[in-house]
Amino acid sequence: MRILITGICGYLGFRTASFLADALPGAEICGLDNISRRGSESNLAALKKVGAKFYHGDIRVQADVDALPPADWLIDCAANPTVLAGSGVLNDTSSRQLMENNLSGTINLLEYCKRHSCGLVLLSTSRVYSISDLLSIKLRIKGERLEPVPPSTVLGFSKAGVSEDFSTRPPLSLYGTSKAASELLALEYSAAFGFPVWINRCGVIGGPGQFGRIDQGILSFWAYSKLLKRPLKFIGYSGRQVRDCMDASDVAALVMKQITSPSRNVPRVINAGGGLRGSFSLRELDALCSGFLGAGGPPPAIVRETRPYDVPYYVTDYRLAEKTWDWKPSLSAAEMVERICRWASDNESLVGQWFG
Ligand SMILES: NC(=O)c1ccc[n+]([C@@H]2O[C@H](COP(=O)([O-])OP(=O)(O)OC[C@H]3O[C@@H](n4cnc5c(N)ncnc54)[C@H](O)[C@@H]3O)[C@@H](O)[C@H]2O)c1
Repeated sequence: MRILITGICGYLGFRTASFLADALPGAEICGLDNISRRGSESNLAALKKVGAKFYHGDIRVQADVDALPPADWLIDCAANPTVLAGSGVLNDTSSRQLMENNLSGTINLLEYCKRHSCGLVLLSTSRVYSISDLLSIKLRIKGERLEPVPPSTVLGFSKAGVSEDFSTRPPLSLYGTSKAASELLALEYSAAFGFPVWINRCGVIGGPGQFGRIDQGILSFWAYSKLLKRPLKFIGYSGRQVRDCMDASDVAALVMKQITSPSRNVPRVINAGGGLRGSFSLRELDALCSGFLGAGGPPPAIVRETRPYDVPYYVTDYRLAEKTWDWKPSLSAAEMVERICRWASDNESLVGQWFG
C-alpha cells in the first residue's frame, strides 16, 4: 500500500507518517510539503529516518500535485490551521490566501484522488460547528473553569460534549468554513467517483514536538511560554474557557483503522477529540505548566475583550468514534501537559529558536 501525506512536515503530518511507518511496515509512505510552517523543516531529517519519501511542493499548484506518484490513500494534513487566518485580526494571511490554501488545495487533491482512485482521509476540525450555537450553551463558573448547566436543550450537545449532530450553521470562522466546504466537496467527489473518504473532525491536537503556535498548538505555546518566561494573557472568560486535547498518535491510530477498512459501512464523518478527561481551562493549563516546569514568569494578564471566533466551551463528544471504530483518546489533559513540559525542558534551545 502506498500512503501519500500532504503537509508531511507539519506536526500532524509528521506524527502520522512516523506512526504508520511503524504500524504498517509493508506500506510505502511518501508526502508533500511546501515548508511554509516555521519549524516544519526540522522534521525533514527524521522523515528520512522513517523511510518516508519527501516531495517539495504546494497543494495549490496543480502541476505539483500532478507530479505526485499514484497512491492508495491520501491523508490530507496540509492546511493553514489558524482560526483567525484571513479574518484581518492577524496580518499574515488574506481571506483569499486562506481559501486558496484550504479550499482550492482540497479541489486539487480531490482531482488527484479521482484520477488515481485513491482513498482520502481529511483532517477536519471542530471549528465546523456553529459559533452562535456554541455561544448559546448555558454555562456557569465552577472553580477554575466554566461548565455547562444541565439539562442542555441545544441539539447535539450533552454532558459528553458536542456531537456530530450539532449545528454547522455559519458563522464558523473563515477557517472553519474552508474546512466545512472541503468536507462537502470530499463527500460529493466520493459519491460521484467512487473513492472512499473518511472525515475526522478533530478538537485540539497536541504533544511533544509541536511547533507551539498559539492558534494551532495552545498546549505547547503555553508550556514553551512558561519555560521561556514570556508574558501570557487570559483573553476573555478570565481564563476559564474550556477546550479538550488529544495526542497526535491517537489521531494516527484512528487513521490507521480507517485506511485498513475502506468499505466499512459506518458514518463517514466523525468527531475525534480528548473529551471530558482531556479537557482543560486556560487557568488549569497555566497551573499544570507551573507545576511541571516550576513557576515561570509573571502570572497571565487578564484581558476582558474576546477575539472574533472565541468560544467559551468546546468538549468533543467522541462516542460515535468509540462505537464505530473502538477508538478513544489515550491521555488525560494533565498527562498530555506533563509530556509536553518534559519535552520542552529537554529541548529548550529548539523551543527558543521556534519562538524567535
Ligand atoms: N493542530 C490542531 O490542533 C488541529 C486540530 C484540528 C484539525 N487540524 C487539522 O490538521 C491538519 C494538520 O494540522 P497541523 O496542526 O499539523 O498543522 P501544521 O501547520 O503543523 O502542518 C501543516 C503542514 O502543511 C504544510 N502546508 C501548508 N500549506 C501547504 C500547501 N499549500 N502545500 C503544501 N504544504 C502545505 C505546512 O508547511 C505544514 O508543514 C490541518 O488540516 C488542520 O486543519 C489540526
